[in-house]
Amino acid sequence: MPFIVTVAQRKGGAGKTTLCCQLIAALVGCGLDVAAIDMDDQRSLTRWAETRAARLGGLDFAHDTASGFTVAMAARRARAADILLIDTPPSVEPAVARAIALADLVLAPLQLSPLDLDASLPTARMIGEARRDALFVINRAPPRARVADRIRSEISRHGLPVAAAELRSRAAFAESIADGRGVTESEPRGRAAAEVAALTDELLSVAGLRRAAA
Ligand SMILES: Nc1ncnc2c1ncn2[C@@H]1O[C@H](COP(=O)(O)OP(=O)(O)OP(=O)(O)O)[C@@H](O)[C@H]1O
Ligand SMILES: [Mg+2]
Repeated sequence: MPFIVTVAQRKGGAGKTTLCCQLIAALVGCGLDVAAIDMDDQRSLTRWAETRAARLGGLDFAHDTASGFTVAMAARRARAADILLIDTPPSVEPAVARAIALADLVLAPLQLSPLDLDASLPTARMIGEARRDALFVINRAPPRARVADRIRSEISRHGLPVAAAELRSRAAFAESIADGRGVTESEPRGRAAAEVAALTDELLSVAGLRRAAA
């Protein structure tokens, strides 16, 4: 079975789909066999996959869609992959609970505002109740902001595990996604790519996976 990463965050627009697209592109670039499941009926991840397939003349990872009822079956179909990413809708509905129950690791993007932190706590509780390992990923971090440091310390007061790698607010993330790519492909030497590469390394180390030899 693949290492299963469920990307979940009840707060809408936190960066779940952005994280999925960027990590899929980076993991494919590491030579891994990657699978993805889109559980959000906004189908943003699926649109990215379609753009990517049109660009490449085929898809370089296994893409699927699923509901809460079919996600376990879809995960079994992905059993040959090294790593499976599941994108979920912004809620704590039972479908998301099912995806969290399947996960080896839950990634929860989080923006550094008090409103975002409050809105995230139900997701944190859901992860805790399911006894899953999790990493909150700071997304759209502002370069310098006092409120950001306050939120960082509040996050640790809540005992939430936070990834060392953070993603800043950068146009490159959305631009690459519009092209069916990730920043590690569109601007491999850019700062956005360095952030995604750091997060990818952190994920690979938690997953016990290695980059395939070039
Ligand atoms: N680090 C970032 N820098 C700049 N823009 C970002 C960043 N992360 C996300 N965005 C933008 O924020 C918006 C929401 O991101 P995204 O769709 O990934 O969030 P989501 O959590 O999947 O949303 P939903 O809850 O609706 O599924 C998008 O327009 C995206 O391009
Ligand atoms: Mg989304």
